[in-house]
Amino acid sequence: MSRVTVSVPVGFIKVAEVSDIEDGDMKVVFNDLVVIAHVGDQFYAFGNVCPHVGGPVGEGLLDDCIVECPWHAGQWDVRTGRALTILATKDLPVFDVRITGDDIEVSLDERVLTQGSLALSRDSTL
Ligand code: FES
Repeated sequence: MSRVTVSVPVGFIKVAEVSDIEDGDMKVVFNDLVVIAHVGDQFYAFGNVCPHVGGPVGEGLLDDCIVECPWHAGQWDVRTGRALTILATKDLPVFDVRITGDDIEVSLDERVLTQGSLALSRDSTL
């Protein structure tokens, strides 16, 4: 098993290019901790770790602005992170996104390391 050190970067960082993600698709970035969803002319960033029991939310289904966890079908609104169903036991953290040219950039914070049952500290090793 490889070990990866994750630090929370300061400010906006590039995580993908606009052309990487078709409308209606998602891409998992930042050491599998963040999902970028492309809905219409907008991109949204949110946590990839399901608050229920840690499913990979970004490997689930995206239907307009609703994402569904692949493990037990918990659902959230990707615009706000708001939990919509019983098994979506908490809101997902959402992060600011900006587009610079063809670059998708996100601004992360400590919540990226405290998702689901994760409780990593800054500069954590996974
Ligand atoms: S792990 Fe996501 S709904 Fe159960």
